[in-house]
Amino acid sequence: MAQVVGCICTSHVPAIGGALAKGLQSDPYWKPFFDGFPPVRAWLDQVKPDLAVIFYNDHGLNFFLDTVPTFAVGAAEEYWNEDEGWGIPSLGSFAGDPKFSWHVIETLVGGEFDPASCQKMLVDHAFSLPMQLLWPDRRNRPRTVPIAINTVQHPLPSPRRCFKLGQAVGQAVASYPDDLKVVILGSGGLSHQLDGERAGHINKDFDLRCMDLLVRDPGALLDYSIDDLIELTGSQGVELINWIAARGALTGTVGKLHSNYHIPISNTAAGLLLLENLETVNAG
Ligand code: DHB
Ligand code: FE
Repeated sequence: MAQVVGCICTSHVPAIGGALAKGLQSDPYWKPFFDGFPPVRAWLDQVKPDLAVIFYNDHGLNFFLDTVPTFAVGAAEEYWNEDEGWGIPSLGSFAGDPKFSWHVIETLVGGEFDPASCQKMLVDHAFSLPMQLLWPDRRNRPRTVPIAINTVQHPLPSPRRCFKLGQAVGQAVASYPDDLKVVILGSGGLSHQLDGERAGHINKDFDLRCMDLLVRDPGALLDYSIDDLIELTGSQGVELINWIAARGALTGTVGKLHSNYHIPISNTAAGLLLLENLETVNAG
């Protein structure tokens, strides 16, 4: 049977791609951010997941404003990144797992979710940066199932709806017959606003509270509306719903193994959280 081994949530500021391309990990600006990752990579080296399901948001690379699905699940053999204008080298492709993707889609539709199914899907920085940060050596990367959540064009799905989506994905993993270790990724946040009068808005108190609640009481985050989250975290901080979806996929007793929080990276509060799905690990 497939198992969810844990969950890793991280911010996806595009400038990280430039820093990686230029090898700036030890630069004083970047060091407090990159120093968060070695413990997470050490855990991945030990657990060696076969597959990563990643909840992220597309920023206009694959879905432009004319057609924005609320939820979209990739079902391709491979996923390509394309030039978004950040001036970074081309990243090649990321392996998919169509059989697993279709099982996820069938489980979601059977559970009264109606995602778009995408047999072709370009993946932007919100997908590629977590993959690069967690598996710098592309040969070690697990197969992937991208799940895009609309955080861009209103109306956006509520935190509660995203948590339930994550729970349904957790059920899809638990009902998959093959022996697979699955890590769940959440990409985006934490607080940031890129434009308008509140550009540069960061809310450290709320970010740290969210990181704590995601570990021990995610239900406490589910009564917030999207408008509440925008007020608290900024109009792009609402990417927090990707973390909430990822947390929903954890079915066991959840334990925090590592976290990091650093402000700012570009305009964003950069968060990192590694959660182990304890029951699953013990059962294994
Ligand atoms: C920034 C953050 C994001 O999440 C994003 O998608 C684009 C830019 C930033 O802080 O620069
Ligand atoms: Fe973003």
